[in-house]
Amino acid sequence: MGNPKQSRRLTRRGPSLPRHLWGGRFQESAAPEFSRLNNSFPFDHRLLPFDIEGSVAYSKALQRAGVLNRKEAAAIRRALQSIELNCSNRPRLIRDALAKYEDVHSFVEAKLIEQVGEKGKKIHTGRSRNDQVALDLRLYLRHHCRHLCRKLVFLMETLTAHAQRDLMTILPGYTHLQRGQPVLLAHYWMAYFEMFSRDWERMKTTLGHINVMPLGSGALAGSGFPIDRRFLAKELGFQSITRNSLDAVSDRDFAAEFLFNGSLLMMHLSRLAEDLIIFSTTEFDFIELSDAVTSGSSLMPQKKNPDALELIRAKAARVYGNLVQMLVILKALPLSYNKDLQEDKECIFDTVETLDMVLEAIPLVLRTLKVKTQKMKQAAESGFLNATECADYLVRRGLPFRAAHETVGKVILYALQRGLPLEKLSLREFKLYSPLFGPDIFDAIHLKRCIESKSLQGGTATIHVKRAIEDARRYIARIQ
Ligand code: ARG
Repeated sequence: MGNPKQSRRLTRRGPSLPRHLWGGRFQESAAPEFSRLNNSFPFDHRLLPFDIEGSVAYSKALQRAGVLNRKEAAAIRRALQSIELNCSNRPRLIRDALAKYEDVHSFVEAKLIEQVGEKGKKIHTGRSRNDQVALDLRLYLRHHCRHLCRKLVFLMETLTAHAQRDLMTILPGYTHLQRGQPVLLAHYWMAYFEMFSRDWERMKTTLGHINVMPLGSGALAGSGFPIDRRFLAKELGFQSITRNSLDAVSDRDFAAEFLFNGSLLMMHLSRLAEDLIIFSTTEFDFIELSDAVTSGSSLMPQKKNPDALELIRAKAARVYGNLVQMLVILKALPLSYNKDLQEDKECIFDTVETLDMVLEAIPLVLRTLKVKTQKMKQAAESGFLNATECADYLVRRGLPFRAAHETVGKVILYALQRGLPLEKLSLREFKLYSPLFGPDIFDAIHLKRCIESKSLQGGTATIHVKRAIEDARRYIARIQ
């Protein structure tokens, strides 16, 4: 890329030394020990397409401000576009440059000057890397948040489809990991739908906070050139512009928010992963995970381990770590920009890449797992999951709930001693505990009835779960 004469001029300080944007007042080169610490290009090269997008728009603003003439601005834009194309077609270009440049901004500017010569040196007029990097980060996060939102929608669709399929399947519902009351498996899937729809909403809210344009804030005080910031915002698809330059170059609230949203999303995923790991054990045996998302043991030939789910569960820790890193970097940071802010990037990149990976994997795990309907039903039939319904029966016949609870507790003790479920007791045995029991008790404590009686909005009755699925479908259609 570029003309060899110009690139020799650029590397006057020796080909192995980093190219800096700030050489003038320095008499000595940066020490390699410092460069190793200081250089962010090994990770911030991910910002390259966004840095270029920002510079393309900035060249237009400079033209409007009279800093660049039409020909210069056009040449700069062409060069920027060709740098992007070259870098995306030949990843080696970046790989080979990683050790040589301080950061992505220095790299792009150096390449631009290599290509267009002197006029390229005007691109940074009235701009600082401080407002530039704030812009790049916002563009990067805006792009990836939108992408992650689409993946969240796909996950919500997967859960809704499962719910539709499993409207007739009964699952023991748990509290304290002890069997509590029966629920529809569809209701269970829709519980996770709720969590992920909140995650989607949070990401959308954060997108609004990300979508504010900081360019024109300069290093900290603003810009002395007549840069049309609203024009820039429009060019780059931003809804508004930042209102205070000191704040704009040091604000990473939007990034912390993104990491918090990511943390809650990972928490939800880790809970789903944990449930499914438990359900897939021989002890529960409610589901079978596909070979495609499990692995074997190098020693025990019978093993099928839920690795994908275990890793999703563990990746939550990594994202929480990234959130904490960001919060601690920002804590007590004096205004305005400080180099500490360079350390915001890896926790953002790592979170984006982690979320992307797990949001690819989890729908696959869900779509390929087999539900063992019979096993779930058998489990729901033992463990007195109909005990609450039995107490409610007595309440409907006039007994105060606390007394009904006590009575049914005694019936259960009796049944436990005989090793029988409630429904296998005779009416005579029920009546030993309360004269209110009648022959309709057997119908009342049937599993199906336990489910259908929970017909308030939010409950597990089929009619309500069907409605929840319809609402979910409408929601998905609206947000897509
Ligand atoms: N690489 C830097 C960062 O990520 C760019 C901004 C540098 N600004 C400065 N004043 N040294 O934050």
